[in-house]
Order: sequence, then structure tokens, then C-alpha cells
Amino acid sequence: MGLRPLLSEEQIQQRIREMGAQIDADYPSGTLYLICILKGACYFLADLSRAIERDTFIDFMGISSYGRGRTTSGEVKITKDLDISLQGADVLIVEDIIDSGVTLHYLTGLLNQRKPKSVRIATLLDKPERRLRPVDVAYVGFSIPDEFVVGYGLDFAEKYRNLRDICVLEPD
Ligand code: IMP
Ligand code: MG
Repeated sequence: MGLRPLLSEEQIQQRIREMGAQIDADYPSGTLYLICILKGACYFLADLSRAIERDTFIDFMGISSYGRGRTTSGEVKITKDLDISLQGADVLIVEDIIDSGVTLHYLTGLLNQRKPKSVRIATLLDKPERRLRPVDVAYVGFSIPDEFVVGYGLDFAEKYRNLRDICVLEPD
């Protein structure tokens, strides 16, 4: 399978700096709880958290709605829950990509039950054409067409996460 460059490391880093500044400007003072959705969003969390100047807490949540292939199973499963309480917290869910919206539709509902002060979503990539469930996304890095992408945390069967750029995975 071939890789076609879509977003360069420089474009990604520039956009994340803008997102961090926007997030700093939007929130009242206080600690922002960044919830990283494993595994894909771990690179984005690392860079976004350093683009934010206010105090942050980070925690990780494992969720799987995909098998090893390209298509959604429609099933959402928690594989690792948070260590910290969200009660009274400003929560920002940090995700790599929103596709059908099934994962985040489910997750925002779940986290809202934990009595946070607010819950918003920051995603690096969005494929709006593919939405099956409504999701209210506060911060989007890039809207992209309906193509399968890898790199910067995004995988195909666990491969390609460590690419610095984001590429479209093309069948030969
Ligand atoms: P959703 O529930 O369909 O919105 O699925 C979101 C999840 O699907 C993301 O967190 C990714 O793990 C995965 N995903 C969706 N599109 C892609 C893609 O183009 N490349 C790699 N993973 C993807
Ligand atoms: Mg994911």
C-alpha cells in the first residue's frame, strides 16, 4: 500500500499552536483536564498540552470502536478507564480523528454522567462527511475528505503511528 502526504509535520505543529492559543483564550482560569483517547491521540495530546499555557491535568482513556481493519464495528468498548475524578472539572476530550462520531457520541454521554463542569472536544482531524451520530466539536485542527489516513498517531492495523506527517493510505 502507498502513502500520499496530506499534512506535513510543520502544518500540524502550526495548527496545534493556534488551537492551544484558542483554548487558552476560551477557558476561564483554572485547571483544564485533558482526556486523551488512546492510542491514536497520544501524540496530539503531547503537543497540544504544551501549546496550552494554563494548568492542565492529563489522563488517558482506552476506547475501541474499530477492529484491526478500516471499517467501524459500531461497537464501543472501554479498555482503560480514567484514574482521576472529573467532578466539577473543565474537561477537554483530546481525539485524533472523528469519523462516524460513534466513539465520541458515546464518550461525551459517559463523561457527562461524572458531573464535570464542562465537556468539550478537541480533535486534530475531522471527516464530517462520514458522520452517523451527532457530535458537537469545539476545536477542529483540519477537516479532511473521506480518505483513510495514517501517521501522527493514526494507524492501520497498529502500523504507521510514528510517521511525522499525516498521509493517505492508498491501495496499490
Ligand atoms: P468514529 O467512532 O467512527 O468517529 O471513530 C473514530 C476512531 O476511528 C478514531 O479515533 C480512529 O481510531 C479511527 N479512525 C477513523 N478514521 C480513521 C482513519 O482515517 N485512519 C485511522 N484511524 C481512523
Ligand atoms: Mg482513536
